[in-house]
Amino acid sequence: MGGKCDIGLIGLAVMGQNLALNIESAGYQVAVYNRTSATTEEFIKKRADSKNIIPAYSLEEFAGLLQRPRKIILMVKAGSPVDSVIEGLLPYLDKGDIIIDGGNSFYRDTERRARELKEKGIRFLGTGISGGEYGALHGPSIMPGGDESAYWEVEEIFSRIAARTEGGPCVSYLGTGSAGHYVKMVHNGIEYGVMELIAESYDLMRKGMGLSPAEMGDIFRKWNEKQQSYLLEIAGEIMDREDPETGKPLIDLISDVASQKGTGKWTVQEALELGVPLPVITAAVYARYLSAYKGEREEFSRAFAAPEREVIGREFLPVLEEALYLATVIAYAEGMDLLKRASLEYGYGLPFAEIARIWQDGCIIRSRLLKQIQRIYKEEQGVASIILSGEFSRDFAERVGSLRRTVSLAIEGGIPVPAFSAALAYFDSLRARELPANLIQAQRDYFGAHTYRRKDKEGTFHTEWQDIENV
Ligand code: 6PG
Repeated sequence: MGGKCDIGLIGLAVMGQNLALNIESAGYQVAVYNRTSATTEEFIKKRADSKNIIPAYSLEEFAGLLQRPRKIILMVKAGSPVDSVIEGLLPYLDKGDIIIDGGNSFYRDTERRARELKEKGIRFLGTGISGGEYGALHGPSIMPGGDESAYWEVEEIFSRIAARTEGGPCVSYLGTGSAGHYVKMVHNGIEYGVMELIAESYDLMRKGMGLSPAEMGDIFRKWNEKQQSYLLEIAGEIMDREDPETGKPLIDLISDVASQKGTGKWTVQEALELGVPLPVITAAVYARYLSAYKGEREEFSRAFAAPEREVIGREFLPVLEEALYLATVIAYAEGMDLLKRASLEYGYGLPFAEIARIWQDGCIIRSRLLKQIQRIYKEEQGVASIILSGEFSRDFAERVGSLRRTVSLAIEGGIPVPAFSAALAYFDSLRARELPANLIQAQRDYFGAHTYRRKDKEGTFHTEWQDIENV
């Protein structure tokens, strides 16, 4: 016989603690385990005091506390720690037990673990969980993939702890194998793109228009009345925060070197692998790398003066607002495009409308746009890109001039806007009936006899561009 806890959770860093508390407050008894016992003791003494949370101090004891089939959520650091915990647990598990990896694991690791565990009769769910510390405690967006029978055993718990919109709880079974972690990776890629676009808007306002953080806070808030985007909302709050020590705006004191844990990079690597263009998301990843070139940037700034820039007037603000909106749509379009390609390549059978639905609350990229995206996938299924859908296509047709104007003002002023520029170039390339790739093809054929196709007839052609024998 097993024990009586409904579910177990391993890994008591803040996300794990918050998720355990969330599950407990939804009416379940939770067993918890952490490699360092002191962390468990402290959690039980403080945050979990008088809650229906039972500590275990060894994996054997932990497994013994759980009802069968055991349901175990891992909230440990992605990478080898996940493998070590699984290895440590296996001797105490029975066939049919369920392991749920709730971290930001690389989807190929998830694929491997699912395969290895299946051979041992253990059911595995690679599950993306978004919403940061707050979401974990009050309702995240949950992206599970893997063994479907396992999903239905934890569905009730997931539905009770997830964020909720009028469309239901922000959780849905996304597909086999690594589908859940793949979707979470792309979620994070979009997150990188949108964050970079907001950061570039901030840069244009402070350098081009000379606005103060307090003024920018008001502007972000005003823009967010339409966009209803979590990332825009927190940008507004950040602008208002004062440093308690100096009384200065805190944002002015934060170092301009951005870190990353890898999910944005994986998204871009995947896009390269599958041949899907993701210019905005890629620009966002590169922008973080460039920010880390602090020493080089200092040398460059000493060597090259910035161009004389005219002050951009406040009348430009509505233009920037539209540009941010359109480029943000492009970031989502890129992500959805990668998901579409991956779904075919890996046979996930991803439910796109459901993905757009479960991203509407709890997660970091939640925004009003996702309601429109959900509608598009429900009603315009065949559409090649969300940009071509009813609502968005009209916006692009009428307002793309704002994106163009924003990029050109930034370029003239020497203010780097890699993500805005990438968004515009992506749109202009897709819009172009003719691209200069004919010259690329001709050059490939010239130096390497790689052949080309013609516009006026079928077949593959090669031209003797040079007389190599007689040079
Ligand atoms: C989320 C976030 C979360 C994490 C990011 C940060 O959805 O809750 O995406 O998973 O905060 O992965 O990523 P970087 O450290 O790479 O910016």
